[in-house]
Amino acid sequence: MTAMADDVLYELTDVRRSFRRGPAEVRAVDGIDLVIRAGEFVAIEGPSGSGKTTLLQLLGGLERPTSGRLSFAGSELSALGDKELTKFRARDVGFVFQHFNLIPTLTAQENVLAALETGGLSRADRVARAEELLRRVGLGDRMDHLPTNLSGGEQQRVAIARALANAPRAILADEPTGNLDSTTSTEIIDLLAELAAGGVAVVVVTHADTVAQRAGRRVRMRDGRVAA
Ligand SMILES: Nc1ncnc2c1ncn2[C@@H]1O[C@H](COP(=O)(O)OP(=O)(O)OP(=O)(O)O)[C@@H](O)[C@H]1O
Ligand SMILES: [Mg+2]
Repeated sequence: MTAMADDVLYELTDVRRSFRRGPAEVRAVDGIDLVIRAGEFVAIEGPSGSGKTTLLQLLGGLERPTSGRLSFAGSELSALGDKELTKFRARDVGFVFQHFNLIPTLTAQENVLAALETGGLSRADRVARAEELLRRVGLGDRMDHLPTNLSGGEQQRVAIARALANAPRAILADEPTGNLDSTTSTEIIDLLAELAAGGVAVVVVTHADTVAQRAGRRVRMRDGRVAA
């Protein structure tokens, strides 16, 4: 394989995902062709209901395509069994959500630890890894805090540290700044941009123009398709 081909992380060819709603068929994603490379920072934009979240869930292996080809690092995701797909979700991608989705009864450090695959690491190594990740997102002095004792921006940093736990090749974020003020949003986007610069593919669904402007590429969706 050439270096160029190696860079390709996601390759989507005519990917579709439809849902049955009573007698009707909702075509949430309706024929998407898309290539995403390692280190790219891509913004997904589009009106409500245009299929942004569904696309992100397909990229993250939370949904399977109804038809089409979706490959990640050269292997076809739809060919993976449920067990392999679970492994893919845990190891190869990290998710970040609008509402942070931290476990409220666990500290920042414990939230990150909970996401770490045990994979031969001792407890001490896992604790060290969680601490390193929290320092990396600027929370070295907040490790023992419960989510309720953290600001929204800090909670989102914990969520990013958790998403990075198993050194994923892609970070998939669904409106990660939707609950944050503009200054905090900028800080979170700076952090995501830094991760992309380090070689992680970052895909961010956003309604905010200021966020999309920071991306290397803007993909606009409409009715389940990429708008021209
Ligand atoms: N599990 C599901 N079952 C049935 N319909 C669904 C399901 N998931 C999504 N849809 C439908 O698919 C379409 C696309 O939904 P999706 O959530 O991807 O849109 P979105 O662009 O993320 O919207 P928003 O900006 O409001 O978050 C919508 O019409 C939605 O109702
Ligand atoms: Mg959505």
